[in-house]
Order: sequence, then structure tokens, then C-alpha cells
Amino acid sequence: MGERVEIFEVGPRDGLQNEQREIPVAEKVALVDCLSRAGFNRIEVASFVSPKWVPQMAGSADVLAGIKRADGVRYAALTPNMRGYEDALAAKANEIAVFASASEGFSRANINATIAESIERFTPILEAARHIDLPVRGYVSCVTDCPYDGPTPPEKVAEVADQLFSLGCYEVSLGDTIGQGTPDTIAHMLLAVRERVPVTRLAGHFHDTNGRAIDNIDAALALGVRTFDTAVGGLGGCPYAPGAAGNVATEAVAAHLERLGYETGLDLEIVEQAAQMARAMRPE
Ligand code: HMG
Ligand code: MG
Repeated sequence: MGERVEIFEVGPRDGLQNEQREIPVAEKVALVDCLSRAGFNRIEVASFVSPKWVPQMAGSADVLAGIKRADGVRYAALTPNMRGYEDALAAKANEIAVFASASEGFSRANINATIAESIERFTPILEAARHIDLPVRGYVSCVTDCPYDGPTPPEKVAEVADQLFSLGCYEVSLGDTIGQGTPDTIAHMLLAVRERVPVTRLAGHFHDTNGRAIDNIDAALALGVRTFDTAVGGLGGCPYAPGAAGNVATEAVAAHLERLGYETGLDLEIVEQAAQMARAMRPE
């Protein structure tokens, strides 16, 4: 059996948060229910952020209430502040995620806070989650490039990743938010981050804006990363990152990893069914 690489499905959150069309809760629930049969351990399905900032995620509590939860699958939700944390708990999310940026420009545009203020906001969330053993994941955005500030220094990514890990995030996901990374810049960034956070606690979250996400995954694999975030059907983006079209597609990454001899534990036929549903949600 090949070495295990885990794919963390983020399509129902990162994908659908960026769709222009208002997607009915029933369609989101149907997509998640299909994904639940595909063999993922973790699926990000919700985001408890301000509906003024991201109206697409307004039905998150209804999505968590409507899905059929599969044994062994953790259903995750983004929580930018204590209000989001409480809403995620009420909706019975199995894990949550806080999200920071390695660049000040994106931090301001995305969550209306400096990086330092965002870490302060996350501290009580991590404390509260620790008391009830709720796993918390941490995201760092703009790990190679920022749409506002230009190239991101690898040392800054390492610093923010270290802060999230030290606060208690069990894993830190490194986001190439606008898909501008190259195998070279991704590798430089990872070499710096690996010095501060164990590579087994890192994940790659690469948007495919420039068609380089698979090459970037290869660069990250070579440096020991074994968890990747993907979105079924290549859905995705970020409303506060102009040009951030499309997370790398789950089906493409799963097929690529299997070709390389890694084990993903996924049923590729069910992944393809979910990809077809996801593509049908997107207007041409
Ligand atoms: P703010 O305006 O600075 O905060 O927003 P505020 O506390 O003044 O609140 C403003 C309004 O939002 C108030 O309502 C609050 O009640 C409400 P009003 O009085 O105006 O009616 N509010 C909330 N409502 C629901 N749930 C909440 C909540 N908090 C406040 N949790 C805030 C600050 C963080 C809330 C805002 O900036 C926000 O919601 N930002 C989220 C942006 C977002 O979701 N971006 C996409 C996710 S990140 C991403 O995609 C990147 C990632 O994929 C990795 C990568 O690719 O790099 C993870
Ligand atoms: Mg993203």
C-alpha cells in the first residue's frame, strides 16, 4: 500500500462562498451528502462570518442541520470571532477553523483587522475550544503573494503559522489565496515554515488561478507535506482576493496522487459524482 496523503475537502465552504448565484441550502446539503460517501475524514461545509461580508455563507447553520452526518467524518466551519465560534457550536460543527493572513493588506480586506489583532481575536476561541476538546485548524492566507501587498516574505508566513500552532491549532493550512505561487516560491516558504511548525502539522491550500496548483502540490510533497485542501469540481476562490478563481479540483488532485502511488482513501467514482454536482451549481 502506498503512503497516505489526506485530501481535506473544502468545496462546500471555499468553493461555494464565492459563487455569484444564491445557492439554495438543499443543493449544498445534497453536495455534502454525496461527499460524505466519498471517504473524506474532514469536509469544510460552513462559515460563521458576517453575512454582510459573505452573503453566500448565510445558510451555514441550516446546512449543518440538514446534512446526514457520516460516521468518522468531521464537518468543519470557519469562525472569525467568538460570535462565529458560538454559532458553530450551536450548529454542532465537529471542528472549527480560524483564519489569519501573512500579509497586512489581505488581513485588513478579509477580516478588517491587523494580523496582531486577528491573533488576539483568536486567542479566546482557542481557549474555549480547548475546554471542550474541539479541534481547531488555523489558516494562513497569502503565503507567497498578496493581491494588495505583493510578494510575502517566507519568514512572515513562518511567524504567523507558529503563532497559530502555539495557540493550539492542531494543523496549519498554508493558503496560496490568489494562485500566484510557483514551485520555487512555495518551496522557499515551506522551508521557512518547517523550521517553526512540524511538517506533519502543515497542509497545503492552493488555488489554481494560474494552473500551477498541481506543480505546487508536488513541491510541497517533496518537502514532506501530506495534507492538501481541494474543492470538488474546482469550485472556489475568495471574495476579498480579486482573481482568486478556483481551488484546485479534488478529482484532479486525487487522480494525480494515485498516479504517484499515494493512497488517498477516496472512492474516485463518488468524487466524480460530487464534481458533476458541483459543476452544475456554477453558471456557465
Ligand atoms: P467587522 O465589520 O470589522 O466587525 O467585521 P464587527 O464586529 O463590527 O461586525 C460587523 C457586523 O457583522 C455586525 O452586524 C456584527 O453583528 C456582524 P451589524 O451590527 O452591522 O448588523 N458580525 C457577525 N455576523 C455573523 N457572524 C459573525 C459575526 N461577527 C460580526 N461571526 C468580521 C469583522 C470578521 C466579522 C468580517 O470581516 C467578516 O465576517 N469577514 C469574513 C470574510 C470571509 O469570510 N472571507 C472568506 C474566508 S477566508 C478565505 O477564504 C481564505 C482561505 O480559504 C485560505 C486561503 O485561500 O488563503 C481560508
Ligand atoms: Mg481558500
